[in-house]
Amino acid sequence: MNVQDKSPAEAKPFKPEPARIVRTYHLTEDVKFFQVRFVDMQKALSFNYKPGQFAMISVLGAGEAPFSISSTPSRPGLLEFCIRRAGTVTNALFRLKENSLIGLRGPYGNGFPVEAMTGKDILIVVGGLGAAPLRSVLLYSLDNRDQFGRVAVLYGAKRPAEMIFREEYFSLKQRSDLECHLAVDADDTGKWTERVGVVTTLFPHLRQIDAPNTYALVCGPPVMYKFVIKELVKLAIPKNQILMTLERRMKCGVGKCGHCAIDYIYTCLDGPVFTYWDVIHMRELI
Ligand SMILES: Cc1cc2nc3c(=O)[nH]c(=O)nc-3n(C[C@H](O)[C@H](O)[C@H](O)COP(=O)(O)OP(=O)(O)OC[C@H]3O[C@@H](n4cnc5c(N)ncnc54)[C@H](O)[C@@H]3O)c2cc1C
Ligand code: FES
Repeated sequence: MNVQDKSPAEAKPFKPEPARIVRTYHLTEDVKFFQVRFVDMQKALSFNYKPGQFAMISVLGAGEAPFSISSTPSRPGLLEFCIRRAGTVTNALFRLKENSLIGLRGPYGNGFPVEAMTGKDILIVVGGLGAAPLRSVLLYSLDNRDQFGRVAVLYGAKRPAEMIFREEYFSLKQRSDLECHLAVDADDTGKWTERVGVVTTLFPHLRQIDAPNTYALVCGPPVMYKFVIKELVKLAIPKNQILMTLERRMKCGVGKCGHCAIDYIYTCLDGPVFTYWDVIHMRELI
């Protein structure tokens, strides 16, 4: 293919498109919600992505960083992100007010195999900020509820104040077509009405799983994976149906710089979603 044959995004893969922050507010003390919209209407309406993919967000003068898309492609036009304050780029983002301009390019990564998951049961296991990428697939499955079997969510946060989208999850608990269990490691409020304990303590409360028919989706802090995967294997969910989103340092997001490479795997292209079966031998990646 000649350069002339390529779409503008393919011809200039590193060029961010201007986008406007439509809404931003704190989800927790150090995590902010950002709802953004491309300035160009055609771009906004044609931006197609899969749950589990990420975008590179840039702030003029500060740089660029990858963030999971937290909104669902079933609600086009606006993109949502949950961003934890970490360093240069995230601090700059936290200073921006509604109506400010940022740069956005993507979507990147493989995302969740939603076509393969169609007709199956879904078990979502979330720890802390893992709620950012998993919110996309959760909302997607609820918007397309008839395409999936059972949907169950287990979500663990450190403390009640650190559970992002806490109100959304409490309202999901009222739905009859979804099973939702919430836990905090410690209740420092004395008002927490759900369970206290790490996320794995929620497994015994799950209704009977139809393991061969279930896809398990996991995202959370690195320490969580080992314990959660043990539970999922105990439930006999096939290893190639255990999907994990794994983060590495990334620079380009498009397989050019090598920053995210481990052995022969480029996590920006081959991931960030991996099956447990694919990476079972790669201790460093997990
Ligand atoms: C595919 C992908 C999706 C992501 N999704 C989200 C998301 O939805 N929300 C969110 O808040 N963050 C997400 N991150 C992490 C986010 O990209 C980093 O927090 C961000 O790059 C930090 O940039 P900074 O300039 O603010 O910090 P820097 O100034 O670059 O660094 C600040 C500190 O963070 C550490 N750090 C930077 N990047 C990473 C990383 N990838 N993993 C671990 N430590 C890191 C640095 O070592 C340093 O200690 C994601 C990362 C990847 C690869
Ligand atoms: S981030 Fe550059 S190769 Fe993956």
